[in-house]
Amino acid sequence: MTATSLDQIISLCKRRGFVFPGSEIYGGLQGIYDYGPLGVELKNNLIAEWWRANVYERDDMEGLDAAILMNRLVWKYSGHEETFNDPLVDCRVCKGRWRADHIHGRCPNCGSTDLTEPRPFNMMFSTQVGPVADSGAMAYLRPETAQGIFVNFANVLATTSRKLPFGIAQVGKAFRNEINPRNFLFRVREFEQMEIEYFVMPGTDEAWHQQWLEDRLRWWESVGVPRERITVYDVPPDELAHYSKRTYDLMYEYPDLGAQEIEGIANRTDYDLGSHSRDQASLNLTARVNPNSDSTTRLTYFDPESRQHVVPYVIEPSAGVGRGALAVLCEAYAEEMTRPPAEEKVRTVADALTAFLKSVARSEKLAPDARDALLTYGEAIHSALPERLPEVEPLLAMPGAETIELGKKLRGQAQPLIDEHFRTVLRLRPRLAPVKVAVFPLKRNHEAMVETARRIRQRLQLELGVRTVYDDTGAIGKLYRRQDEIGTPYCITVDFDTLGEGREPALTDTVTVRDRDSMAQERMPIADLPLYLREKLR
Ligand code: GAP
Repeated sequence: MTATSLDQIISLCKRRGFVFPGSEIYGGLQGIYDYGPLGVELKNNLIAEWWRANVYERDDMEGLDAAILMNRLVWKYSGHEETFNDPLVDCRVCKGRWRADHIHGRCPNCGSTDLTEPRPFNMMFSTQVGPVADSGAMAYLRPETAQGIFVNFANVLATTSRKLPFGIAQVGKAFRNEINPRNFLFRVREFEQMEIEYFVMPGTDEAWHQQWLEDRLRWWESVGVPRERITVYDVPPDELAHYSKRTYDLMYEYPDLGAQEIEGIANRTDYDLGSHSRDQASLNLTARVNPNSDSTTRLTYFDPESRQHVVPYVIEPSAGVGRGALAVLCEAYAEEMTRPPAEEKVRTVADALTAFLKSVARSEKLAPDARDALLTYGEAIHSALPERLPEVEPLLAMPGAETIELGKKLRGQAQPLIDEHFRTVLRLRPRLAPVKVAVFPLKRNHEAMVETARRIRQRLQLELGVRTVYDDTGAIGKLYRRQDEIGTPYCITVDFDTLGEGREPALTDTVTVRDRDSMAQERMPIADLPLYLREKLR
């Protein structure tokens, strides 16, 4: 099972501290989010997987970390000053501002069709470098990390002696003043990109483009986003960015949003290196570039075979970290029954649901649409109890449900059963899990048990070098649920047997290890934990 609505993920992220609205105590800042204690781990793990697969496990890649602020001329010659625009329209009735291509001619706020003509809106944020605010001090926050790679092409080539084909990988922040940021992490104004610029001999570019398409689909699969959930959109010529000869957009099937871009893989030809070069006329460029009178360098590669200077073509796989993390969470998310509740308890909830729905049908306070929606959803839940019991909460969160008094009774009947018989679990790949191992004492007021659990945690942290946590803030069942919900693959419990105070002396210095997915528990010596877990967490 995967997430069936984005709300499930948004609610989990907030509840457990993956993601918070930015500047929340001052009312937030639209399109800006902060990653909390678990979110930063997940995000860093996703980036680490990308870096490992694309830089360490290949023999043709270098890394780079270029500055966010760059000389304004970079954005003049990249084409962004002129073309990095979205079409903006104003609603003449409510004064709302919208991206024309997202609203189908109607204001999403008030429904009016009285809109201005679309006009270009440049999405780059500008700032000022240094204390004097004249036009020479103006700079942009980069809207893509890619340009940092292009302007460093000659530096990397000179210092690494790479031969074509080779790539430069970079992860970093990008900023876009999106007209309408929306859909949680999906469209934001500050985000991170994982970008590769892969430099190839002209003429081999199309084959490399196909190769990168395959490689990237395989990578997404390796982090838990299966191929069948991604469609490849071969962007038609009239939708291509100004630099692209051909682009494949990988469209992930997000709940509620449908297929949306998670990564673009573009053939940027010799456009970028050519644009940032001096002496362009001598370079035999195939791309149409603006004349460059400012660059000090020719961004070319000396081909030892033909003994010619060539401008390489570029294949660019460019993925968003936030969109990636969101897809990984959606795929990993499951709500499942751990064991069926007793039949009479299910019947009590079913009766409460029937009474609630009768009250909905009779209600005069509800608008017809809201009533129909409540009845349709409520009946669907009723017909699939107990499996769909956890959906009582989303039902009660629907518009109008709060006006039905019997909702409180339904919640009162359903909630204890949900708590006892269901769990939310994130089946994240272990490498992506924010916490890898959690250690609990069976009793939190037992000094030796607490001390042993804390010692195990510390030892595992040191020996495995992965995030391990100690927790004693609830009963064991509750602690397991809390870790399941954030995707912790293994939980370790220290009990009386561990201390030699149980019924089985042979179990002294052993603990139980519980597997997140199967919920199976096995007993093993404390001394075996590092080896066992290292193997499992690979
Ligand atoms: N250098 C090429 C480039 O920037 P892009 O398609 O504009 O291409 C690449 O962006 C990726 O960056 C997208 O596939 C998406 O994952 C992410 N991205 C772009 N705009 C974003 C936004 N406003 N919020 C979150 N992620 C975004």
